[in-house]
Amino acid sequence: AVAALSKKDFLNKKVLITAGPTQEDLDPVRFISNKSSGKMGVALARAMLERGAIVDFVHGPLQVELPKHSNIQCYDTKSANKMADVTLSLASSVDIAILCAAVCDFRPQKIFAQKMKKEQNSFENISWEKNIDILRTIGGQKNKPFLVGFAAETSNMIENAIEKCINKNCDLICANNVAESSAVFGSTKNHIVVVNKNNVVKDLKEQNKTDAAHEILDLIKSLKCPTQL
Ligand code: CTP
Ligand code: CA
Repeated sequence: AVAALSKKDFLNKKVLITAGPTQEDLDPVRFISNKSSGKMGVALARAMLERGAIVDFVHGPLQVELPKHSNIQCYDTKSANKMADVTLSLASSVDIAILCAAVCDFRPQKIFAQKMKKEQNSFENISWEKNIDILRTIGGQKNKPFLVGFAAETSNMIENAIEKCINKNCDLICANNVAESSAVFGSTKNHIVVVNKNNVVKDLKEQNKTDAAHEILDLIKSLKCPTQL
């Protein structure tokens, strides 16, 4: 990683990154979301910027500061629908897309205009609608960028991650074991295993998210037209 910091091996590459959770409103005071902090996505954006890339950064509500740099454009989103709109509008114009966001899989079918009252049992009657799968949608596009997804798993991590890689037509999936979610969500460290459609590509071992980000970039570089980068 230290050697990588000194070279601009992603110079002028256009990179799209999604990060953080999404938030799905239930009523004027409540929402459903998840434990993602956005730290991994921010680490990936910083690593890309250091290495010369031009970054589109689409994020949900974050618990970390956004990178400040002349080569990053940040898009502040909240719901999965909004994140999908923005991300899909950018996807065809980038060389590489890394979808790191923890997108809520479902949203309430309707957002209550008034605060839900506990006496009305409204909490038991929420209907859910599936959100669009942003990663899978990009994977199905004709001129898709080099596509990297993430997978949060609590069991059968490798098998599930390889299956996601196939189903979403990704080049790589970075698998995270979130069984002990406090060890990943919000943490500065994680243990990522990178897979493709067939195999484990590399076990990155447990390390901080900055070093993990640089290792993921090293893998992208070695796999995506090594001569181009
Ligand atoms: N993803 C996405 N849009 C969604 C859901 C997920 O783009 N609506 C992306 C994530 O950003 C991540 C990858 O898909 O890169 C895998 O997310 P994950 O939640 O692990 O997988 P799912 O396909 O949603 O399956 P499940 O949650 O049931 O394991
Ligand atoms: Ca999911």
